[in-house]
Amino acid sequence: MAKKIFLPPKEFAKKAHIKSYSEYKKLYNESVKSPEKFWARYASELHWFKKWNRVFSYTKKPFCKWFEGGKTNITYNCLDRHVLTARKNKAAIIWQGEPEEDVMIYTYERLHRDVCRFANVLKKHGVKKGDRVCIYMPMVPGLAIAMLACARIGAIHSIVFGGFSAKALQKRLIDSEAKVLITADASIRKGGFVPLKDAADEALKGCKTVKSVIVYQRGKNPVKMKRGRDSWWHEEMAAPDITDICKPAIMDAESPLFILYTSGTTGTPKGELHTTGGYMTYVYLTTKWVFDLKEEDTYWCTADIGWITGHSYIVYGPLLNGATSIMFEGVPTYPGPDRFWQIVDKYNINIFYTAPTVVRSLEREGPKWVKMHDLSSLRLLGSVGEPINPKAWLWYHKMIGEDKCPIVDTWWQTEAGGIVITPLPGATPLKPGSATLPFPGIVPDVFLENGKKAKPNQEGYLVIKKPWPGIARTVWKNPKRYIDTYFSKYKNIYLTGDGARCDKDGYYWITGRLDDVMKVSGHRIGTAEVESGFVSHKLVSEAAVVPFPHPIKEQAICAFITLKRGAKESEELKQELRSHIAKEIGPIAKPDRLYFTDALPKTRSGKIMRRILKAIAEGKSDVGDTSTLADPEVVGRIIKIVKAKA
Ligand code: WTA
Repeated sequence: MAKKIFLPPKEFAKKAHIKSYSEYKKLYNESVKSPEKFWARYASELHWFKKWNRVFSYTKKPFCKWFEGGKTNITYNCLDRHVLTARKNKAAIIWQGEPEEDVMIYTYERLHRDVCRFANVLKKHGVKKGDRVCIYMPMVPGLAIAMLACARIGAIHSIVFGGFSAKALQKRLIDSEAKVLITADASIRKGGFVPLKDAADEALKGCKTVKSVIVYQRGKNPVKMKRGRDSWWHEEMAAPDITDICKPAIMDAESPLFILYTSGTTGTPKGELHTTGGYMTYVYLTTKWVFDLKEEDTYWCTADIGWITGHSYIVYGPLLNGATSIMFEGVPTYPGPDRFWQIVDKYNINIFYTAPTVVRSLEREGPKWVKMHDLSSLRLLGSVGEPINPKAWLWYHKMIGEDKCPIVDTWWQTEAGGIVITPLPGATPLKPGSATLPFPGIVPDVFLENGKKAKPNQEGYLVIKKPWPGIARTVWKNPKRYIDTYFSKYKNIYLTGDGARCDKDGYYWITGRLDDVMKVSGHRIGTAEVESGFVSHKLVSEAAVVPFPHPIKEQAICAFITLKRGAKESEELKQELRSHIAKEIGPIAKPDRLYFTDALPKTRSGKIMRRILKAIAEGKSDVGDTSTLADPEVVGRIIKIVKAKA
C-alpha cells in the first residue's frame, strides 16, 4: 500500500468549489444530520416548474421518493436554462469522430434545436410520456440528441451499448417493450465499419413491440431498410412538418427518466430504473463538486454513453452545469497509442476522466507517446470503473498530471446514478488506491457476514445505510428483484456487491466485487450471462465462468466447459465457442482462457462450486475446502488441465 498522502495543491484549493477538508466535513455533517435541508438547497439551483412538497419520503421501505410533488424537465435544465443566458453560443458538446477531420460542435442553442426537432420526430412516431425508446448507437452526436429528445417528451430511454450483440439487444428490447428503436447504419471502429443496423435487424426478428426504427447515417454503410418500419434520421429531421419548437413535458420528480440494463449475480441483466428529480439533482451536484467544474473548463469523460458513466458524466451532469463536454467516437489506441493525449492537446482539455484499464494499457506503451503532446492544460484527473492500483495511480499522477493534478478516484455503480465515494479535489488529501470518502449525503459502512460493523481495515461488504437522491428506484418490472438483490442481505440497507475496507481515517479501499459480477476492462459482465451464452451452443453441456486477475483489464474471463457426449474437443471448437459468446453477448465477453473438462466441481446437491474454479484460475496452490464436493477428484483433474496449458 502506498504510504504517501497527496494534499490538494494550494492554488487548486483556493479556487475550488469546496476549498478545504473542514469545509467538506461541515457539508458532510449537515448532509447527514439534515439531508432534506441539504438537498433542497442544491435542487433549488435547478429549475422546477413547481416546487416539491417534500424532499424525501419512503413509499414503502426500501422504495423511496425524492422531491415529491415537484415538477421539472431535465432537458429544460440541461438546455433551455443555458440558452436563455450568455451561454447560448457556448459549446455544449464537442464531438470528435474517429477520423481526425470529423468534428462537430454543438452550441447549447444548436443542441437545443436538434433535441426539439428530434423530440418532434419521436412524437410523429406516436411516442408518448412513459413509452420506452431503445437507443443502440455508436458514439455519434445523434446518441446524445436522441436521449435528450426522449427526456424532452417524457419517454423513457433505454440505451444499449453499441458493442453488445444482436442477442443482447433483443433481450433488452423485449424486457423494456420498446416502441421505437434508434440505431445507425454502422459504427466506425479502428478504421473499419461495424454493421450496427444488421445487428438491429437481427434483434428485431424476435421483438413485436417495436413499430419504428430510425437510422442515423454514420458510415454510409449499405443497409436494407424495411418499408413501413425503417426511416433515415436525416430525412426525418428535414421533414417540412418538423419544427424547432417542442415544449418540455412537465414531469413529476419521480417520473421515470431512463432504464439502463446492468449485470447482476443471476439471470438476465436487470433494468435499473432512474427517475427525474433526484437523479438530476444528484448528477448536477456530483459533477460540479467532484470535477470542480468551472465556466471556462473543457471537460472530457472517455466513457461510452452506453454505460452509466456516459449517461451521467458525458451528457446529463456536464449539461446540467452548462459545461463543455467532449464526446469521442474512437478508441485509445487508434491510429496510435497517443490518441487520447493528442485529443487532450488538441482541445486543451482541463478535466480528464477515464478508467484504470485505459491508464494501465497506455502506461504499458511507454512514455514516448505521452511526451509527444502538450498536456499542460490538464488540471484534474479522474478514474472510474475498477480499483486503480497505486502503481497506475502514481503513473497517472506523474506522467499525465505532471505532479500537479489531483486525481479523483470515483467509486459508484449503475444503481447509484452518480458518484458515491470520492475525493473532492480541493478538499480531500489523497491516498493512492483509495476512493477516499463519501460524497455528502452518502452514509457507507463495511459490514461482516453477520451484519456487524467491520473493524478498521477489516474487509467486509460495502453497504450504504441511507437512501440518496440518485439511487435507482426499482428494477424495471421487477420490484421483487430490487429488494432481493439490494435490500435483503441486511434488511433495508443497500448492498453494493463490492468488498471494501475502511481505514482509521475513514478512507474506503474498494477490493472488488464479492458476487458473481466481473469487471473486464471496466465493463460489467455477469458470470451467469456468459455461462448461459455457452450452454446455448449445441455442443456444450455445462459451463462455469470465473474471473482471474489481468494486468491490464483488471479481470479477464476464464471458462470451464464440458461438452455433450460425442462432441470432440479441438482448437477450432474453442474458437467457435469464443465467437459464439461474441454473438450472444458481445466481443467484450469473450473469454481469455477456455478449458474443456470432463466434469465440473459440484456439491452433492448439484451446485457448481465457482469458488474452487476461481482459485484454480488464479493459480492458487490451495483451492480451499473440497469436502462438500460430490466428486473431489474432479479438482485434481482440472488443475492438471490448467497447468498443462499454462
Ligand atoms: C466497480 C460504473 C473500485 C465496482 C460506474 C462497482 C469501482 C462496479 C470503482 C460498478 C472505483 C466502479 N474503484 N471499483 N473507483 N468504480 N467500480 O455499474 O465493482 O458499470 O460495483 O458502474 O464497478 O460498475 P458499473
